Amino acid sequence: MKIFVTGGAGFIGSALVRSLVRDKNCHVLTLDKLTYAGDLKTLEGVSANSLHRFERLDILQTKDVLRCLLEFSPDAVFHLAAETHVDRSISGPAVFLETNVTGTLSMLEATKCYWEELKGPKRATFRFIHVSTDEVYGSLGPKGKFTELSPYRPNSPYAASKAGSDHLARAWHVTYGFPSIITHASNNYGPYQFPEKLIPLCILKALKGDPIPVYGTGKNIRDWLHVEDHVEGLWNILKRGKPGETYNIGGGTECTNLELVKRVCSLIDILQPRNGIGPRSKLITHVPDRPGHDLRYAIDTKATFRKLGWKAKMNLDEGLKETILWYLSHPEWCQHVQEKYAGERLGLARAAK
Ligand SMILES: NC(=O)c1ccc[n+]([C@@H]2O[C@H](COP(=O)([O-])OP(=O)(O)OC[C@H]3O[C@@H](n4cnc5c(N)ncnc54)[C@H](O)[C@@H]3O)[C@@H](O)[C@H]2O)c1
Repeated sequence: MKIFVTGGAGFIGSALVRSLVRDKNCHVLTLDKLTYAGDLKTLEGVSANSLHRFERLDILQTKDVLRCLLEFSPDAVFHLAAETHVDRSISGPAVFLETNVTGTLSMLEATKCYWEELKGPKRATFRFIHVSTDEVYGSLGPKGKFTELSPYRPNSPYAASKAGSDHLARAWHVTYGFPSIITHASNNYGPYQFPEKLIPLCILKALKGDPIPVYGTGKNIRDWLHVEDHVEGLWNILKRGKPGETYNIGGGTECTNLELVKRVCSLIDILQPRNGIGPRSKLITHVPDRPGHDLRYAIDTKATFRKLGWKAKMNLDEGLKETILWYLSHPEWCQHVQEKYAGERLGLARAAK
């Protein structure tokens, strides 16, 4: 199979590319602009593999995207390229609209043009998988979970831009019969995640002995999904998902941010003991909350399991341990990406009063 992946030099995209090339034996063309969040070092594991090709390109360059599609002739597109950090969307929303909404429009237009020329089984089985987030559903109270039928109520500029892109992907199916599928995943973690996100930020700060910031009370709840479970879910959606449908992908591991950070600290204390200084949890520092911070996300994956047979397998403590060990054994990658972001607080520039 030939698969076209946008955003493949980022965290989830690179995990998907590695899995497609190494485990599924697919030919992959990775298209990525290489913003601060994308890096060729993240793709090192497949860079020498003859099944993999890389093209540095902005998804907004519709004609060039179409040229790549025509040259490569894929059987499916996974669209992951996006601006992804909520805090950055608070201080600078414009690029989120440009990349996530206009960029998705560009991808849909280029891919529709390519798909319209396909014939026979290749056209019938072609899929455009739009990778999105549970954050489009907004925030939950203490009870209940998001289902595929939950209303859209995005609260951050990031979530609003992803919601906009979802609506485009859906409309292209309804209006043009274009075979798009939407996925909503919960918070991912695992190797190669850029250290602006909570878990790698916490790991790297804990290892350095720096204060570990926890926003507000730390009582916000997330449903943590290991990136490899996510990637396996995406593969199942490609194989068995139906155009026009939405699939929710969650880890089934609800945890408050404070509890999560404490778990990471305890695991690091075991994996990398430091004598005489005390537990890393002492480094936890409560800082002003994120403006508009969603209280709780939780995903009901019953429908995805019923339709695709997919369910997350990774236990949270095992996944965290594996992730910490990965960061401990990849100091060069960590140093390289920290040259682009040193861990300073983001997202307060335009905080609501
Ligand atoms: N990280 C999560 O927890 C999570 C959860 C659910 C869904 N998602 C979605 O999954 C996708 C990937 O997320 P991630 O965490 O891997 O993101 P990431 O920030 O690690 O990577 C994004 C990638 O997109 C590339 N990119 C950005 N703008 C581009 C452009 N204009 N043209 C081409 N490439 C561009 C970047 O260079 C980078 O490689 C996103 O669409 C995100 O909304 C993420």
